[in-house]
Amino acid sequence: MITEDQIKEALRAVKYPGYSRDIISFGLVKEIKASNGAISVSMQLTSGTAEVVQQIKTESERALKALPGVNAVHVEVKAPAGGQTGGAPNPWQSQNKVPGIQRVVAIASGKGGVGKSTTSVNLACALTHLGAKVGLLDCDIYGPSIPLMMGIHDRPTVSPQEKLVPPVNHGVKLMSMGFLIEGDSPVIWRGPMIMKTIQQFVTAVEWGQLDYLLVDLPPGTGDAQLSLCQTVPLDGGVIVTTPQEASLGVVRKGIAMFEKVNVPILGIIENMSYFTAPNGDRIEIFGHGGGHAEATRQNITFFGEIPIFTEIRIAGDEGVPVVVSAPDKPAAQAFIHIAEALRQKLG
Ligand SMILES: Nc1ncnc2c1ncn2[C@@H]1O[C@H](COP(=O)(O)OP(=O)(O)OP(=O)(O)O)[C@@H](O)[C@H]1O
Ligand SMILES: [Mg+2]
Repeated sequence: MITEDQIKEALRAVKYPGYSRDIISFGLVKEIKASNGAISVSMQLTSGTAEVVQQIKTESERALKALPGVNAVHVEVKAPAGGQTGGAPNPWQSQNKVPGIQRVVAIASGKGGVGKSTTSVNLACALTHLGAKVGLLDCDIYGPSIPLMMGIHDRPTVSPQEKLVPPVNHGVKLMSMGFLIEGDSPVIWRGPMIMKTIQQFVTAVEWGQLDYLLVDLPPGTGDAQLSLCQTVPLDGGVIVTTPQEASLGVVRKGIAMFEKVNVPILGIIENMSYFTAPNGDRIEIFGHGGGHAEATRQNITFFGEIPIFTEIRIAGDEGVPVVVSAPDKPAAQAFIHIAEALRQKLG
């Protein structure tokens, strides 16, 4: 006698294509019937290409047929009529979308100093370069570095409707915790205060129409980061890692964080992949390929790698990201390729 729990357990092995989460945790399985070794399962997708439907069906059938004592399996996968034929599926529907903002994406890292803010800033500029309307939300309470990297010295102004108007540079609208810190003096934030501020940064800011709002989370995967992920209505998360950290399992912490708050993981970016010496030698300072290998292991998308380029650091210090100052250079192209991959993933 096969129980419903056994069937669910078997279906947990089936991941939603392109995501690390399984179809059960996504809540796609609507009906399960079992009698005399015959199993019938019905699933409902909220979106998805014919390819996705077929893959889920095939993998589910395979998982169920492997159960002992099963002699017949019927899996029905329903997708909305006229469902997406191109683009990526978005099985997670944000509960409280922000009007005017199409996609909200968090950029996270298991550890500090891996180049998360550099990546956020350059991806924002790269998406703008590709023609999108982009906002950037710097949630780093410990060291908000994004205003400097974006060359933004103005503070937000207040509109007649009493909304905050974000300053803009390089075509990107920015809100930052740094705007609330006077000079260099660190501010002692209390948890609820941070959440309330961030909430206002999303809802009480005049973002206008945005294709993407990128959210730079504070480094790490602790409680503060978790609460932020719950405060901002995220469509997905991206993890930035160095090759070394990926091999140390730090990426897995990032994945676990997003899974805890039901945010789909869009993919991994490997930063500081290698350095090309002036004589052309390739030096892999932090090792190489750890990000790709971990993405494969965890069955998530690998967006690409960013080598170490001196101009990336200089551009950040000068407030003109390399994607803006030298869009044709390899350093900028690395970010632009990743932005293209991200855009495609988001549909
Ligand atoms: N690919 C790269 N090539 C050269 N320098 C880089 C690269 N990525 C980041 N850096 C430099 O490394 C330093 C740290 O980067 P960044 O501030 O983006 O890291 P972070 O992960 O946001 O750090 P934090 O944890 O402090 O928020 C910066 O000086 C930045 O310019
Ligand atoms: Mg940072």
